[in-house]
Amino acid sequence: MPLLIKNGEIVTADSRYTADIYCEDETITRIDRNLSAPAGTEVIDAANKYVFPGFIDPHVHIYLPFMGAFAKDTYETGSRAALVGGTTTLIEMCCPARKDDALAAFELWMAQAVGKSACDFTFHMGVTKFDAPTEAHLREIVKRGISSFKIFLAYKGAFGVDDTELYRTLKLAKELGVTVTAHCENETLVAERCRELLAAGKTGPGLHYESRPPAVEAEGVHHLMTFAELTGAATYIVHLSCREALDQAIAARQRGVRVGIETLIQYLVLDKTYAERPNFEGAKYVMSPPLRDARNHAVLWNGLRDGLINTVATDHAPFDFATQKPMGRDDFTKIPNGIPSLEERINLLYTCGVKAGRIDLHTLVNAASTAVAKQFDLFPRKGAIQPGADADLVVFDPAYRGTIAVKTQHMNVDYSAFEGWPLKGRASVVTVRGQVAARDGNFTGTLGRGQFLRRKPSRF
Ligand code: URP
Ligand code: ZN
Ligand code: ZN
Repeated sequence: MPLLIKNGEIVTADSRYTADIYCEDETITRIDRNLSAPAGTEVIDAANKYVFPGFIDPHVHIYLPFMGAFAKDTYETGSRAALVGGTTTLIEMCCPARKDDALAAFELWMAQAVGKSACDFTFHMGVTKFDAPTEAHLREIVKRGISSFKIFLAYKGAFGVDDTELYRTLKLAKELGVTVTAHCENETLVAERCRELLAAGKTGPGLHYESRPPAVEAEGVHHLMTFAELTGAATYIVHLSCREALDQAIAARQRGVRVGIETLIQYLVLDKTYAERPNFEGAKYVMSPPLRDARNHAVLWNGLRDGLINTVATDHAPFDFATQKPMGRDDFTKIPNGIPSLEERINLLYTCGVKAGRIDLHTLVNAASTAVAKQFDLFPRKGAIQPGADADLVVFDPAYRGTIAVKTQHMNVDYSAFEGWPLKGRASVVTVRGQVAARDGNFTGTLGRGQFLRRKPSRF
């Protein structure tokens, strides 16, 4: 059925105007004033609302066997939550264990999403070892429509690669035009500091920060930047959390290194005191890199505002507080890492960013949609409001007032890191390729309708 969104204020990364949007056969076909609807068209009145391009989360985990546990969401629950919160495309990290075969892992991750997801999706292919068979598999995976890899400089012995593997992965990426996304923390420092803290009887969630202070992340970024400089590969730092790491990335960029920078909504609005909460409550806020000192908030918001930081993601990794986080009750190194936030990214960016005067609407759209689409070879099919683009649209109600609560969330996890936080605006109507998939906090889409997005490498 055709769709007509009337009278909304369209806001893209670089423009703002009032018009109607007509969508047919899954794409936007016309944008103009006073469009009329043929019989049978679904009409949505967007007066007094914004209309944004569908948001893209460039860093989520749905299927994640990690630290002895499985993250709680599936594509059924995760895509619902994403859509209710205005996110219409997911880029998931495909994270094989070192012993796993890369191609089999890619197919395993794909099987979790195909026929289940309600929103569109693609993957960063995790490179957790690099040898001849893996290289052949990576070449094949790129042919199947993947244009970004993911490497971990952390998680020694699990996902982490050594320097030879890092160098070879970057060389291959450069040859294939693939972007290498990277978790940057020095794994040796992390391992040594964890050992020292535990030996000193320091075991609580608040100590997680001490095991990976800003210098550990900054060293990881510096390390990656050196390898990127020597190979010429295009890189993208995931979940950058602090000034020290940003300084290293910007210095490298000034030397000519190709690097995109992602921060997370968690680092913009939470700080390390959350992980210090008593009675193990802090475990809800354990992730890596850790939440930082609140002084970093201004650094990150200003970095976004000024275009130094390109994207805002969630690194959504949901582990239950009641049953999974307690694996690390007596040892913070065993707390499954992650702070779920897939559903709240856009509403929080708007409430804490735009409404608080820290960023403007264009920055929000760019960092959570357009810049992501450009970075990961999805633009202009995604991240744009123009004829020919997919009709992924978010009608956003700035007049909405409400409160975040675990009891109303769609993410399949037993807590909200933002319980009781007020929201000043939310996604009101969300469409995926022309079909309404969420309305005022409720999922109305179709599980299984989400498509795998084939991407063509462009970063030679
Ligand atoms: O703490 C985090 N970030 N958990 C998910 C795995 C990762 O490092 O991306
Ligand atoms: Zn990571
Ligand atoms: Zn992650």
